[in-house]
Amino acid sequence: MIVPINLENQTIIKYNVMIEKLPKLTFNRKVAIVTNTTVSALHLEELISRIECDELYVVTIEDGEEFKTLETVENILNELFEHKLDRKSLLIALGGGVIGDMTGFTASLYQRGIGFVQVPTTLLSQVDASVGGKTGVNNKYGKNLIGAFYQPEAVYIDTDFLKTLPKREFAAGIAEIIKMAVMFDKEYFDFLMEADFTKKEVLEKVIERSVELKAEVVNLDEKESGIRAVLNYGHTFGHVVENETNYKTYLHGEAVAIGIMMANALSVELGIMSENEMQQVKEFLQKHNLPVDYEIEDIDTFYDKFFLDKKAANNKIKFILANGLGKHVVRDDIDVSVLKKVLKSFSKKGE
Ligand SMILES: NC(=O)c1ccc[n+]([C@@H]2O[C@H](COP(=O)([O-])OP(=O)(O)OC[C@H]3O[C@@H](n4cnc5c(N)ncnc54)[C@H](O)[C@@H]3O)[C@@H](O)[C@H]2O)c1
Ligand SMILES: [Zn+2]
Repeated sequence: MIVPINLENQTIIKYNVMIEKLPKLTFNRKVAIVTNTTVSALHLEELISRIECDELYVVTIEDGEEFKTLETVENILNELFEHKLDRKSLLIALGGGVIGDMTGFTASLYQRGIGFVQVPTTLLSQVDASVGGKTGVNNKYGKNLIGAFYQPEAVYIDTDFLKTLPKREFAAGIAEIIKMAVMFDKEYFDFLMEADFTKKEVLEKVIERSVELKAEVVNLDEKESGIRAVLNYGHTFGHVVENETNYKTYLHGEAVAIGIMMANALSVELGIMSENEMQQVKEFLQKHNLPVDYEIEDIDTFYDKFFLDKKAANNKIKFILANGLGKHVVRDDIDVSVLKKVLKSFSKKGE
């Protein structure tokens, strides 16, 4: 017997990303803020002062990527049950991408899903992690391997939160910003070259454009079958750099900056980017104190690590490359010798 089930997915998901001073937030429901020890000391009071709701709870977890685990999610869930949150309740993520990803995932699980709102407090989470609905945790097999696509009800981006952000963390966010410009928008790229990130209105403009671009990509491809992969520009190389350095030497955005340099070197080798264009990107990264060099110890070991990436389907490595500035191309046909030649230019022997 066959019982065909046809669920026509007609859900239209709409929400706004507000880029402004955090407004008064009124909810006729129970609310739990999820944050970490660092962010709560700096910004929790401010957030609480803006919220009006039935009952308000705060769940504070330890700070660090190493706490982005199922165990932490379970602890958060337990606290929500202790506070008797119901199906109408709301979670608010106050923090960077770690808090955002984990809060979203917890919201997707609690009683099969409750609402959540993002209040991202790092540049990276404001331009990248808080938009797109990817939520999840890490496990011993890798990063973000457990999770769900689950969209927030709203995202509130207030650049004032960034005033307390360490400089290195700020720069790490800039790597994801330049990524979007190189992949999709030459005009935005030119704007970024001149942008003074210390000016609030410039920063807001930059965040707005990055969010817009990410939203366009996600809208075209919510489940990452096609164009969403383009967001991995710089990441194929960057992930190997992160892996080789045991996730200790570089922040993710810093490894992405190195990865962008490597991807661009490949583009230049393939003749789809000029030396001059590569140089422009390099100078931008340097200006923002992002690393642009990396010394590969052993090219073969580095090369083998490409295959650890979950995106390397059927033994083919998919390279997301800049095709000039503001345009991208996805290539899975790169000759090993060409690739190794590029990697060699990042090793001692290449000098
Ligand atoms: N869901 C997505 O689409 C997506 C996209 C990119 C990255 N991510 C995830 O995001 C995470 C990285 O995010 P992140 O870079 O924001 O890291 P993070 O959340 O670890 O924050 C970085 C550090 O800054 C601190 N911090 C946060 N806000 C602060 C503030 N205003 N002032 C001072 N300190 C502050 C945090 O406590 C932390 O120590 C990774 O887990 C990554 O997998 C998710
Ligand atoms: Zn990234």
